[in-house]
Amino acid sequence: MKHFINLKDIPAKDLRKIIDDAKKRKRKRKSFNTLDVDKDNPLKGKLLIQMFEKASSRTRLSFYLAIKQLGGGTINIKANELHLGKGGESLADTAKILSTYGDGFMLRTDSDKKIEEFSKALTIPIINGLSPSSHPTQVLSDIFTVEEIKKKSISKLNICWIGDSNNVLNSLIAASIKFSFKLSIGCPKKYKPKKFVLEWIKKYKGNINFYHDAKKAARNADVIFSDKVISLNDKVNKTIKIKNFKNFQINTKLIGFAKKDVTFLHCLPRGSEVSDEVFLGKNSKVWIQALNRVHVQKSILMYCFGKLR
Ligand code: CP
Ligand code: NVA
Repeated sequence: MKHFINLKDIPAKDLRKIIDDAKKRKRKRKSFNTLDVDKDNPLKGKLLIQMFEKASSRTRLSFYLAIKQLGGGTINIKANELHLGKGGESLADTAKILSTYGDGFMLRTDSDKKIEEFSKALTIPIINGLSPSSHPTQVLSDIFTVEEIKKKSISKLNICWIGDSNNVLNSLIAASIKFSFKLSIGCPKKYKPKKFVLEWIKKYKGNINFYHDAKKAARNADVIFSDKVISLNDKVNKTIKIKNFKNFQINTKLIGFAKKDVTFLHCLPRGSEVSDEVFLGKNSKVWIQALNRVHVQKSILMYCFGKLR
């Protein structure tokens, strides 16, 4: 049994195995309908329990499709409808029940501590479907998307992030270390990642550079990533933060500093960090990016269920 909590804690060879499996599975489904099950039906009879303590469109739907296409099923449970944390039911008791009824647990939460506690108490795998410190399923899928579009190993590309130092960036930083790619980060000085993230970069000698000028970060980029300046449940003065990012908007002028065939990626939902022109323009591959969540999460499930060799 393997958990999928944070890219930084998963061996690079396992991450590569997941991507390779996703490539094969995606190729084999070319003429399949949405709910057709993969020929090998590898997770037949398995139940993935999902719990979202925060909003989600893509993660929810893509995990639904992922487990269905592997032959299993899913159920969504809501924290406010459970006894968890109230009525005499501890997290450990809930974990025991989830492990009794289900085969895997996908959790989106505002608490990294909760994921850690569940990971210790469950006897089934847990998948982090977004936490304050990371969004690993999104970023692994994005690595897949980059290699699919660019037809090259990501280690040969200049990857750029322009935006807030949030959970998605933390996972991209972990990916940069695991997959050895160059990462240029553009953000205002006071919005650099937290100390523990800067420490990983130092410890693993990541090829990661910070720029407080978006144009410098974008220079020569093969791929530009971004995400909302205000994340879900971000407890900041929104007006001030958005104002502080005003010179970091990804617009036609800014992508002019990148390579001509630069790819723009964004996990969605979006805000003022990207212009409509770029988001809906020819360099943007955001819809393929969203669709690939299904393919990569299938292979993440395979990994967690011990089915990847
Ligand atoms: N990108 C992403 O995780 O989207 P949702 O919040 O809709 O799941
Ligand atoms: N950084 C964003 C990602 C949403 C998918 C958030 O945490 O809200």
